[in-house]
Amino acid sequence: MEIKIEDLKVLFSEEQLQTRIKELAKELNELYKGEEVIAVCVLKGAVMFATDLVKYLDMPLKMEFIRLSSYGSSTSTSGKVNAVEIKLPDLNGKNVLIIEDIVDTGLTAKFLIDFMHVNFNVKSLKFCSLLDKKMTRKVDIEPDFYGFEVDDKFVVGYGLDYDGYYRNLRYIGYKEL
Ligand code: IMP
Ligand code: MG
Repeated sequence: MEIKIEDLKVLFSEEQLQTRIKELAKELNELYKGEEVIAVCVLKGAVMFATDLVKYLDMPLKMEFIRLSSYGSSTSTSGKVNAVEIKLPDLNGKNVLIIEDIVDTGLTAKFLIDFMHVNFNVKSLKFCSLLDKKMTRKVDIEPDFYGFEVDDKFVVGYGLDYDGYYRNLRYIGYKEL
């Protein structure tokens, strides 16, 4: 499959994304009640979502970034998660909020959640994903928070890429097959 910009249909507009992000932030602010949070952004896909989301969080907060990979330049998952770059501070006793772009098979989410529990004795661990592709799950895992459910289509924009492109779009689009 090849994706050209003129083939893209808008799935979630800039306005829809921003509105939903503010709602998610409100839920998170209610959950943490002013307690400090370490927001762990999963690069590169979640960068737009994470930076927009944290602007509406009102507790003391630190941002960390980790990078993993499971996709090459294809639109289907290789089924394997490779830890590319994980340099995190000591997260023992911290409220950790993982911020992801999309949960697809769930392998990345499972890897990250296991990784946190194996390496740290966190105070709390929550997983917040902008998108949730519930239909394509391979492991039994659900994000604690998600922005929108999407069915089994390949989406791009707002951090999500096709072969590295389209992360800069302000909306999320998809190619009609
Ligand atoms: P999972 O491990 O299969 O759940 O996939 C997680 C990663 O695959 C996400 O963090 C994305 O980077 C990527 N991914 C899954 N679906 C899509 C999509 O529709 N568009 C772009 N990237 C995707
Ligand atoms: Mg990702």
